[in-house]
Amino acid sequence: MWFGISCRRNSLRNSSTCSYPRLTEIGAWRQETLVGKLDWRNPNYVEVYDGKRHGGFYTQDDIREIVAYAAARYVNIVPEIEMPGHAQAAIAAYPELGNTGEQLSPRTKWGICENVFSADEATIIFLQNVLAEVLDLFPSPFIHVGGDECPKVQWKASPAAQARMKELGLVNEEELQSYFIRRMDQFLTAHGRRLIGWDEILEGGLAPGATVMSWRGEAGGIAAARAKHDVVMAPNIYTYFDYYQAEDKDAEPLAIGGYVPLEKAYNYNPIPADLTDGEAKHVLGTQAQLWTEYIPNPKHLEYMAYPRACAHAEVAWTPLAGKDFADFQARLGAHLERLAILDVNYRRT
Ligand code: ACM
Repeated sequence: MWFGISCRRNSLRNSSTCSYPRLTEIGAWRQETLVGKLDWRNPNYVEVYDGKRHGGFYTQDDIREIVAYAAARYVNIVPEIEMPGHAQAAIAAYPELGNTGEQLSPRTKWGICENVFSADEATIIFLQNVLAEVLDLFPSPFIHVGGDECPKVQWKASPAAQARMKELGLVNEEELQSYFIRRMDQFLTAHGRRLIGWDEILEGGLAPGATVMSWRGEAGGIAAARAKHDVVMAPNIYTYFDYYQAEDKDAEPLAIGGYVPLEKAYNYNPIPADLTDGEAKHVLGTQAQLWTEYIPNPKHLEYMAYPRACAHAEVAWTPLAGKDFADFQARLGAHLERLAILDVNYRRT
């Protein structure tokens, strides 16, 4: 049963690859960081930055150590190399990977960004080379390629992207993204691994070997399971642990938004009721997300993760018939004492 906690952003920024040293020399460092809430809905909002250079990366030895540490505890680490969107740090390192040739810098704020990888053959080969290095480090059967939140603005405006679509007989940019992901699927399959991506990879057609991680609700996961593809359920309204834990948001540390209290996290059922038994077999499990835009340090991360991660473990591992929130709460008391002894900064409910 898949039980995961995901907590990263911009994977390439954090990967150490020998073939492409600018990924860590350039892509791993941003000049400064946005302070406080990114509030694009407010017309009077003025962005404030901290003026401090920030960044870093894992060396290949670091990764080997982390993978071994996890494996010794029966945990498999699934790396995510995000493409074709969320890629500005890599494009800043190698501008030829983008669509405009512009020399960009790694982003200093978060959110969706129009600077995405081109679909040129050279970019695809670059990413396959990166994946080859990732495969050497991570034994995981699944390799995550992102696929989410990729605006198509630059592909629409790019003569090269439009020519590529014509050459391949593709009718729109969603099909171009699907082609892109298929190329990664072919590469990973040829290397004995399985591609997994966020539910946007359904748009334009799902790659034959793809497993879908359903984050924008369950619809993507349901569609994929019906098409006989494996699925990991990760719907934001139940499993995004970067969302607030209390209704009174002012009483909580700043978070991205949303509201996932402990009971809601506990009561999630990752097997949608409208799947048949045969379709439901494609649901491998569930994953919680802990994106860290608003989580500045490990103690804050613990605060957001616990005790919701304890609830999520039961979502994945306790049969529905045996689940009972009151019973969970009674048992949680003893578990929180263990967390306290381990100096875990769990949220006191
Ligand atoms: C996601 O939160 N963009 C997967």
